[in-house]
Amino acid sequence: MRGVCGLLAVALVWAVTLASNVLAQAPAGPAAVPAEARKMKAALASSPAAIDAGKQLYTKYCRFCHGNTGAGDSTMAPKTMKPPNLTDAEWAHGSSEGEIFWVIQNGAPPKYDMKGLKGKITDADTWNLVHYVRSLGGAGK
Ligand code: HEC
Repeated sequence: MRGVCGLLAVALVWAVTLASNVLAQAPAGPAAVPAEARKMKAALASSPAAIDAGKQLYTKYCRFCHGNTGAGDSTMAPKTMKPPNLTDAEWAHGSSEGEIFWVIQNGAPPKYDMKGLKGKITDADTWNLVHYVRSLGGAGK
């Protein structure tokens, strides 16, 4: 009898561990943009061509959440989140080139409602997006 109980206990612990592994969301990343991101310099200089390329990427990957002009007024964004205005002077995650690069690649901490595009777009295209976002005015000053 004791042997059966022990076996049941082991099975129970195993089942609970398995279930919690499946249910627990894998952490998407750190709770905030790492401090080193701020010091990162763009590997690709801003230019009218870079901003233009960034704008096209923005239309494809960002507009439905952040809105046509980046003002955070899209009606298509999921109702569970509030994408910020990218044209104003408020930058919860930092407005430097490197910080914006980090958010585009890794997503917006701590909730990661905005997912990162790492692996989906190149670093060069990420810099094009950074230059486009900074050209909107709020971060470039
Ligand atoms: C699914 C909707 C969604 C998409 C798509 C999305 N974002 Fe976001 N973004 C958000 C949300 C929500 C936040 C704010 C998260 C928070 O602060 O908790 C955010 C935050 C940001 C921030 C930080 C702003 C700040 O004030 O510090 C930047 C920069 C940004 N997004 C740029 C982009 C760019 C560029 C793209 C396209 C490559 C993009 N986002 C795609 C929803 C989205």
